[in-house]
Amino acid sequence: MMENMTATFAVETIPAQHKWWQHGIIYQVYPRSFQDSNNDGVGDLKGMATRLDYLQWLGIDCVWLSPIFPSPMADFGYDISDYRGIHGLFGTMEDFDELLGEVHQRGMKLLLDLVPNHTSDQHPWFLESRSSKDNPKRDWYIWHDGKEDGSVPNNWLSVFGGTAWEWDEHTRQYYYHAFLKEQPDLNWRNPEVQAAMLDVMRFWLEKGVDGFRVDVMWHMIKDFQLRDNPPVPDAAITEKRLYDDFMPVYSTDQPEVHQIVRMMRQLMDSFEDRVLIGEIYLPIQKLVTYYGENNTGAHLPFNFQLLTLPWNSLEIAAAVDSYEGALPVDSWPNWVLSNHDKPRVASRVGPSQARIAAMLLLTLRGTPTIYYGDEIGMTDVPIPVDEIVDPQGLNLPELNISRDPSRTPMQWSQELNAGFSRNKPWLRLPYNAGRVNVERQKDDAYSMLSFYRKLIDIRKKSAALSVGSYSPVYADTQLISYIRQDSDETFLVILNMSHRPAYFRPQNTSYKGLITLSTDEERNGMYVQDVISIAGDEGLLIRVDNG
Ligand code: NOJ
Repeated sequence: MMENMTATFAVETIPAQHKWWQHGIIYQVYPRSFQDSNNDGVGDLKGMATRLDYLQWLGIDCVWLSPIFPSPMADFGYDISDYRGIHGLFGTMEDFDELLGEVHQRGMKLLLDLVPNHTSDQHPWFLESRSSKDNPKRDWYIWHDGKEDGSVPNNWLSVFGGTAWEWDEHTRQYYYHAFLKEQPDLNWRNPEVQAAMLDVMRFWLEKGVDGFRVDVMWHMIKDFQLRDNPPVPDAAITEKRLYDDFMPVYSTDQPEVHQIVRMMRQLMDSFEDRVLIGEIYLPIQKLVTYYGENNTGAHLPFNFQLLTLPWNSLEIAAAVDSYEGALPVDSWPNWVLSNHDKPRVASRVGPSQARIAAMLLLTLRGTPTIYYGDEIGMTDVPIPVDEIVDPQGLNLPELNISRDPSRTPMQWSQELNAGFSRNKPWLRLPYNAGRVNVERQKDDAYSMLSFYRKLIDIRKKSAALSVGSYSPVYADTQLISYIRQDSDETFLVILNMSHRPAYFRPQNTSYKGLITLSTDEERNGMYVQDVISIAGDEGLLIRVDNG
């Protein structure tokens, strides 16, 4: 039965009691790859400023920038040598102030990446710390004697391969680094370190930044006794032990970390309307502890389940429900589909499911984070071996986990280098960049970009979708479905996570309503009821007819 062929978008206002970071949409920019303005092949702040209109047009509320601070770039900016400056590659502090002003002028927010767990080995703090055993900053980092035979203090491994301990010949002790040896871990048990990093946060908050995404929040405190991590029971015993062969129960997620997070939160709360986000890869039950007792911890501990779980309707449905069930009272959910450390969603789930993924991200309850380029369906770009620059890819070649493929330049247009730069970009573009880009998709009503924009528009205009309740309806080996609702409006979302057609017929209940948006857009505006047939790879957003 067909009625009206035009989709009706409800125009409602989001209830005022919700904060911007609850109903808003976050967009992650990897600064090296967004827009180059000075044609050195690397993106920069001035370039970024020229693309803000695009983000506003798309409906983005908040931009999070991966690190832009001075850094030797051993880990592309996650090795910071000055927390209060701007790397010359990205511009100047004036450029930053201008960008922040431009963001705010558009009613948007700006988040910075805070990397408090470790500094660069070139940071003056570390240079001092390593200069002598009695330097006042010696205890700012984690130094330890070797065992009696001179070997490393314990079995902790670096995420990027090899032991996490580096020998310092000059002072004849080891220092700990969870990541590269060029990224020594700070000792967060030292109150001077705490005060110094809170000062850094204050510096940026006073400038007006709207919050931070805190790098590896769960790593910040390690076991006081530095006990060995137990091996994963069934890990293959190979000569080369890898990070995942051990359970990092002593090197991460220590109870005392919550005091640190609370301190950070208290500082944020002394400013108006800021947000604290934590990067945390932990199982749900542990993840939710980062909200802190009575929500005095992170506002949003990043929820990476959609990014780490197999793309399987039953698993995803179970994960959504367990997450909803595990959330502490009054805490706010969030969802992430891709980031600069993992394969892009369109590569992980395949292009045919990429729209389903978008619909899931933008219709679940909780703040969505979009990774730049996902909105045009960018896929991981194959990088020839001799062009690999990511240290994770270089250090662990046998694992095939280089992060370069998901960090390639944004594809803007059909111009040279997809409009990203007039010069050779720091990472290559895909061969199809002339076809897959913003300019081409902007005017194509059926493009991925138009689909994202419609979804965002619908979400923003509907209180039910942006802040309403969530209840699961039904899941099987193909479908996942749920209701989003507030007092005025009810949406039914049905997503087919398989490539085959399916029927939606939950037991003892049925729904009717107008399709607000389908991934098969010719179906938009059609009326459906009872047993709803759904195509392979189709997602439906149905405005339920309560009458
Ligand atoms: C997490 C960041 O997202 C990643 O890019 C980085 O390599 C590590 N933390 C170390 O800072």
